[in-house]
Amino acid sequence: MTDYGLVTATREQWLDAVLADFNGFLFDHAANERKASAMAMTLVAHYPDKPDLVRSMIDLAMEELAHFRQVIGLIHRRGLTPPGDEKDPYVNALRRHLRPDPADYFLDRLLLAAIIEARGAERFGLIAGAVNDPELARFYDALATSEQGHHKHFIDQALAWFDDAVVAARFTEWASLESTILQSQPIRARLH
Ligand SMILES: [Fe+2]
Ligand SMILES: [Fe+2]
Repeated sequence: MTDYGLVTATREQWLDAVLADFNGFLFDHAANERKASAMAMTLVAHYPDKPDLVRSMIDLAMEELAHFRQVIGLIHRRGLTPPGDEKDPYVNALRRHLRPDPADYFLDRLLLAAIIEARGAERFGLIAGAVNDPELARFYDALATSEQGHHKHFIDQALAWFDDAVVAARFTEWASLESTILQSQPIRARLH
């Protein structure tokens, strides 16, 4: 039975870096929520022939957009203005492993999203456990639960369209890739 989990845990230095530049982290976090919403809507646009997927991705896009609104709210209440988007080397490195065959590409899109959600859930949980502000801790705890739900959502979609064994085998590959890519990235006050 595959648990569809991450292969490696985030290093402690990452949490130290985030806590040392929390405003910088918030800017990147906001951008990630906005991009997650846009990515879900890209799937809606690419697969209009899959009504279940379309409905579930619209719901997900709205949830991610609600997260974006919440994080932007936090940023504005701090009197801050986000800078322009930065590249996300982690996501870009992962995307290079999407396979071009249409069926493979569809499965990979779902599993790539699943693994990114799992990492987000893990890291939001770490933040929830480390911040001093109880309101902020509650916010990140709720986000961790939500992103964990998104992770499951993408796995369930993959299992709805592909054989269990195919999904499990390819997820194992993605989890291993993600671990290698994450560890090759410098530690920064960013989500990835
Ligand atoms: Fe989110
Ligand atoms: Fe998410």
